[in-house]
Amino acid sequence: MEKSIRMEKTTLGVCYYPEHWPEELWEDDLLRMKEHGIEIIRIAEFAWSVFEPNEGVYTFEFFDLFLELTKKHNIKVIFGTPTATPPAWLTHKYPEVLNAKVDGTLYRHGIRRHYNYNSPKYRELTTKIVERLAKHYCSHPSIIGWQIDNEFNCEVNVFYSEADHKAFRYYLKKRFGTLDALNEAMGTVFWNQTYTSWDEIYLTRPTVSNSTNPHMSLEEKRFISESVISYCNLQAEIIKKYKTDSQFITTNGLFDHLDSHEMTDLALDFITYDSYPNFAFDTWADPKKPGNLNDRKWSRSLTKTRSISPNFGIMEQQSGAGGWDSRMKQPAPKPGQMRLWTFQSIAHGADFISYFRWRTNWIGTEIYWHGLNDYSNLPNRRLSELKTIFNDLQKLEFLAGSKYKAAVAYIKDYSNEWDGEQDQWHGPLDRFSEEGWFTAAQINHVPMDYLYLRNSSTKKTSVEDLCKYKLLIYPHATILTEETAILLKEYVEQGGTLIMGARTGYKDEFGRCPMRPMPGFAAEICGVRVTDYTHLGPGEEAVFAAWDGEEIEAPIFNDILEARDGAKTLAAFKGNYYDGAPALVENKIGRGTAYYFGAGFSTSTATVFLSKLGFAKPYGSMFEIPEQAELAVRSKDNTDYYFVLNYMPYTIELNVRIPMEDVISGTICNGKCKIDKYGVLVLKTTSDSW
Ligand code: GAL
Repeated sequence: MEKSIRMEKTTLGVCYYPEHWPEELWEDDLLRMKEHGIEIIRIAEFAWSVFEPNEGVYTFEFFDLFLELTKKHNIKVIFGTPTATPPAWLTHKYPEVLNAKVDGTLYRHGIRRHYNYNSPKYRELTTKIVERLAKHYCSHPSIIGWQIDNEFNCEVNVFYSEADHKAFRYYLKKRFGTLDALNEAMGTVFWNQTYTSWDEIYLTRPTVSNSTNPHMSLEEKRFISESVISYCNLQAEIIKKYKTDSQFITTNGLFDHLDSHEMTDLALDFITYDSYPNFAFDTWADPKKPGNLNDRKWSRSLTKTRSISPNFGIMEQQSGAGGWDSRMKQPAPKPGQMRLWTFQSIAHGADFISYFRWRTNWIGTEIYWHGLNDYSNLPNRRLSELKTIFNDLQKLEFLAGSKYKAAVAYIKDYSNEWDGEQDQWHGPLDRFSEEGWFTAAQINHVPMDYLYLRNSSTKKTSVEDLCKYKLLIYPHATILTEETAILLKEYVEQGGTLIMGARTGYKDEFGRCPMRPMPGFAAEICGVRVTDYTHLGPGEEAVFAAWDGEEIEAPIFNDILEARDGAKTLAAFKGNYYDGAPALVENKIGRGTAYYFGAGFSTSTATVFLSKLGFAKPYGSMFEIPEQAELAVRSKDNTDYYFVLNYMPYTIELNVRIPMEDVISGTICNGKCKIDKYGVLVLKTTSDSW
C-alpha cells in the first residue's frame, strides 16, 4: 500500500513546546496560530520528565490542561513520543541505556539522542512510557497522529555500547548461522581476523589507522539500520493497540545508517521530513567557495522523501536563522525565502508543512534556532510572510494528493550507499555523479525521481516499478547482485533506457570482489567488458570522451571498455594511456537500450547524455525557463501544475509559449513574464491553450 500522508487540503502546522512557556501564554499562542493559518501542532517529543518525573510515577495533568485548550480552539495535534531525550533520573540509574563512542566512553547527559536502541532496559522503559501515553492520549479528540521519537540517527549514527556489541553478535548469528559462514562472508582470513567464538566479535573499536574490515563495516551499517527499525516498530506496535483508525503514525527526518523505506513500510503510515535548506548554503560555510545549487540542492532530500512517501509531510520547515549556541551560524532566511522553501516542499509532494518552531527558545542549546516569533513575541516579518503563505495556499488547497510527475529516475540502494561510506574508491565517485546528475536534471528542467531498489520482506522492486520511467540512471552500482541485474535487463528489454557508469558490478552483497570479468552481472545488459581501469589520481591530465564530435568530461575514474556481442562503441577516450579506447558503449536489447560510460558523470557530462538521448527540457515546447529556476510538476485529475521556483536574489524572466494561468496570483502568463526574487509561480494551461 502506498505510504502517503492523506490530507484533505494542503495544511500548515507548527512545532510547539508548552513546557517551555508559562501557561498564561498558551491560549494567546493558539489564537495567533489560527490567525496565521496554522491548524496542526506537533508537541511533546522531548517532554519525558513532564510525564514521568520519577521512575514509575506518571503525570498527565500538564498536557491534559494544554490539550483542553487545543480542543477549545480546534487545533489538531501530532503527539510525539519523548524517547529522544531520556530523563536524568533514568540515565543516572541505568547507565547501560547510554550510547558509547567507538572507544567505549559513554555519552552523558547534556544534549539529546544519548541512548542506544538495543539496551533491554531502555526498551523496557520505552515500552512503559509509550504504553502509558498511548493509553491515556489516543482517545483525545485533538490528536490526529503520532510522531515516534525524534529524528532517528540525527546527531549520532553509530552505536558502540555494550548492548550494541551484544546485539550485533545476535544479528550475525541470525544472519550467518555458523562461525564458518560468517568468516567466509566477512573474509576474515585476511590479516588473521578469523573468529573462533561469537564472543570475540565486536562492532568497530579503535584500530590502527582508524580503518576496519570493510565487510564487517558494511554489516555494521545494516545492523544499525535494523536496530533503529526494530526500536521504532516496538513503539509503533504499542501505539497501534490504542490508536483510533483515523490517527496516523509517522516519524521525522532522514538520516544515515537507516533504511527509512523499510522503516516506513514496516512501522509507519508515511514519513515526514525536516527541511532546513539553509544547511545547503556552501556560501555561508565558506563564503569563498564558488556558488552551487545552494538551497535548491535541498530538493534532493525532498526527492528522497518522495521516494518513500509520494505525498509526505514536512514536520519541521525552517522559518528562521539556525544555530546552536555551540555550533552552526546560519544567516536569517531573507524575506521571501521561507515562502520559497515552503513551495519547494509542496512542489516535491508535501501536503502538510509544519514550521520549526512557533517561538524562538529563550533557554537551552537552541537559543539561536529562530522560530516564527522572536523572543519578544512582537509582530515581525516572518509572521507576516506566514500570512502571505497562508493566503497563497488557500488557492492551492486542492493540490493535496496530487503527484509529482517524472519520466526519469535515478536509482539508489542502501547497500551501495553504505559500502561507499568506507570505500574511498567507490563513495566519492558515487557522490560526485549523484551531484552531477541531480544538478544536470535541475538546470535542464528534467523532473527526476529517486528510485530505491528494495529486496526485503515488505517490498521487492518489480519490473513494473522500473517501467514507470523512460530513463533510469544507475551510475555506480558497485554492488550488483544477479537478481538486480535480471530486473534491470527486463526493464531494458521492455523498452527502457538505462545508463550505467564506471565501477559497476565488481562487488558482491558483502562488498567482496569475486573472480569474474567486470562489470559482473551488468556485462550482458550493457554488452561490455572492462579490459583495464584506473582512478584518475591528482595531477593527472583531464580525460575526455569524444561522442559524435563532442568532447565530454570523463572524470574521477575510467573503465577502459570493449564492446561485445553486437554492442556499439559510441565514444572513445581522449587522453591518458588508453587514448582511443572505447569509453561509451550502447547495447540495444529487446525494445530498449543500455549505455555503459566508463567514467563518473559531471554536470556537463550528464547534460550531454540528457540532450543526446532526448530527455533534456521535456516541457521546452511550453516554456523556456532560465537555468536559475527549478521546474517541478504535480499532477491531479489529468491536469498538470508547473511550479517554477526562483532561488535567486533577483528577478528572472521566463518565456511562456502558450497562455498559462498562475494559480497563485490568478494572472495569465503569455510570452515573457517575470518571477520576483525568491518568487514562485504555479502555472497551469488555460482552457483555450490547446
Ligand atoms: C531538528 C530537530 C529539532 C530542532 C531543529 C533545529 O533537527 O528535530 O528538535 O533541533 O532541528 O535544530
